[in-house]
Amino acid sequence: MSDSVKLTYKNKEFVFPIIEGSEKEKGIDIKRLRSQTGLITYDPGYKNTGSCTSEITFLNGEEGILRYRGYSIEDLCEKASFLEVAYMLIFGNMPNSVELDLFNKEIRNESLVDEDLKTILKSFPKTAHPMGVLSSLTSGLIAFNPSSVDIDSDFDMREAIIMLMAKFPILSSWTHRKVKGLPLNYANTSLSYEDNLAHLLFKLPHQDYEPNPIIVNALNKLLILHADHEQNCSTSTVRIVGSSHAGLFASVSAGISALWGPLHGGANQAVIEMLEAIKSDGGDTKKYMNKAKDKNDPFRLMGFGHRVYKNFDPRARIIKKAADEVLNELGVNDPILDIAKNLEQEALVDPYFIERKLYPNVDFYSGIIYRALGIPTEMFTVMFALGRLPGWIAQWSEMRKNNEPIGRPRQIYSGKNHRTF
Ligand code: ACO
Repeated sequence: MSDSVKLTYKNKEFVFPIIEGSEKEKGIDIKRLRSQTGLITYDPGYKNTGSCTSEITFLNGEEGILRYRGYSIEDLCEKASFLEVAYMLIFGNMPNSVELDLFNKEIRNESLVDEDLKTILKSFPKTAHPMGVLSSLTSGLIAFNPSSVDIDSDFDMREAIIMLMAKFPILSSWTHRKVKGLPLNYANTSLSYEDNLAHLLFKLPHQDYEPNPIIVNALNKLLILHADHEQNCSTSTVRIVGSSHAGLFASVSAGISALWGPLHGGANQAVIEMLEAIKSDGGDTKKYMNKAKDKNDPFRLMGFGHRVYKNFDPRARIIKKAADEVLNELGVNDPILDIAKNLEQEALVDPYFIERKLYPNVDFYSGIIYRALGIPTEMFTVMFALGRLPGWIAQWSEMRKNNEPIGRPRQIYSGKNHRTF
């Protein structure tokens, strides 16, 4: 007999089956808990709750493993382009050259957005946070492409996916260019997806732009490393919004809002803000190391530690190398980056950090690279969203194809009992 769990409640015994994943992780299947016992589970933040089965991403925080559809992120960062990874996440397998060419061609054909979207962009103040602007522009795409997606039509699904993959980089770059006061750029379809991204972000009107391979390589890795991370806050948001049969663009727009928060995608921004604060306080890293270790001080070293990865963040290992390459290539001389290097070196040999297994996480290095590339701090989360897009699309498609029920958690009511009006 396969494994099961027994629950005793009011002298009655209930048996619930164990569900096992392909990597042998196990969970209690409580689908019939309420109908059989009248009970629900209470799990704030869903820390112990599996909301779905998924074939997309496997993550083992203890062993520092992250794989997309079985491929390790180490292999993908070494051997694949972001577009190949996006295809594989969305459609399930690595594309052959014909499939990749077709995907690329379809994206190029859609790499234009309605000029009227500029009116929406224009109405935002220059000081608006780019994530809010990006969420609105993504939502705006619905108005300009109103046909609803027939989930049973491969054609419809593919069309929506291609449109989003094509138009999202343009809208993302527009939020950046607006902050910088630069004219809006159009896609250069003679470039690869990743080179075009660099072109959209960095091409200046008065200069030719030749994508720098070191920069594009670092961008490629960052995008791949952020492409999916199973059922995190923004991905769960995309799935739950989509579970009401809201469309792909609307679901992704909601995911962008979820990613915006400082507890989620906003952490890389927090790293740079911390480094800036240390600099304006005289740059004494030892003082801040001591603050981080002081139990009476709420200060934490931003970019260190991770809720899931307790030995090391496998993404950080990869991106540290890319960060070193970018800093060397650009010959960046930035006191903020010197502070980052000092903190990293001090923390890696400090018993407090060693004992608690606190290592630099992906956000520590991604912030450093973005800063070295001249990307404004408040754009960091937009860069994260660019990478996460194929993950959101893949998760949304999987949820719809599996015909998952509408997401609707329950609650334990703790308010007033019936009151006379
Ligand atoms: N600086 C100093 N001490 C820390 C830090 C830190 N960054 N992180 C954890 N600790 C200490 C805690 O004080 C605690 O010490 P104690 O055992 O003496 O009480 C111990 O390490 C364990 O910490 P927890 O808070 O229990 O670890 P948890 O898993 O809950 O937190 C988290 C993980 C939130 C990421 C935390 O390490 C942190 O706040 N880091 C800084 C913020 C950050 O970089 N967030 C981005 C994460 S990456 C991402 O989300 C994409």
